[in-house]
Amino acid sequence: MNKEKELEKLHQEIKNCKKCPLWKLRKNTVPGEGPVNAKIMIVGQAPGVQEDKTGRPFCGPTGKLLDKLLKIAKIERKEVFITSPLKCLPQPPINRKPKKEEIKACLPWLKKQIEIIDPKYFILLGEVAFSVFFPREKLGNLRGKLIEKDGKFYFPTYHPAAGLRFPRIKKILEKDFKNLKNQITLNI
Ligand code: URA
Ligand code: SF4
Repeated sequence: MNKEKELEKLHQEIKNCKKCPLWKLRKNTVPGEGPVNAKIMIVGQAPGVQEDKTGRPFCGPTGKLLDKLLKIAKIERKEVFITSPLKCLPQPPINRKPKKEEIKACLPWLKKQIEIIDPKYFILLGEVAFSVFFPREKLGNLRGKLIEKDGKFYFPTYHPAAGLRFPRIKKILEKDFKNLKNQITLNI
């Protein structure tokens, strides 16, 4: 089976997933989107209300800020694969923080996506994404740095949803994505 078909089949399986209680209230799963041969994967936190409605990642207000940050980094959104460790909207209450058990139940999906897509770079948005890849580290210590681990490169930073709420975080995000441009564009 070619990789495109493999990813399509995986996303079909995700659509039918009932491995944690979040399936009950979801409108849509949000497996992620982007080319199967993407060199960069962006890992967020969980779908929001707009994402749940449409089934598309980062299509709401947070997605607008992500688009702006990608422009700063001179990365084309259509060239990256965008997803998150959780494929369904955390609720109730709507948009709450994901629970540890939910992330644990959902993580095998992300791992399979990574196996198929095999990206070289990961942009990790916020604590949830960070702790999936670096469970023993602190985001504060590694934020804004390109970290090599087992032949892959990871760039952890804040989540753009935090940037929308706090101007100070937004400024840091803009700075981080500018640095990201200098660190990876030659390499991709
Ligand atoms: N936040 C995320 O982490 N992912 C989305 O798709 C939207 C908001
Ligand atoms: Fe399945 Fe993940 Fe949705 Fe839970 S959040 S139902 S594990 S796809």
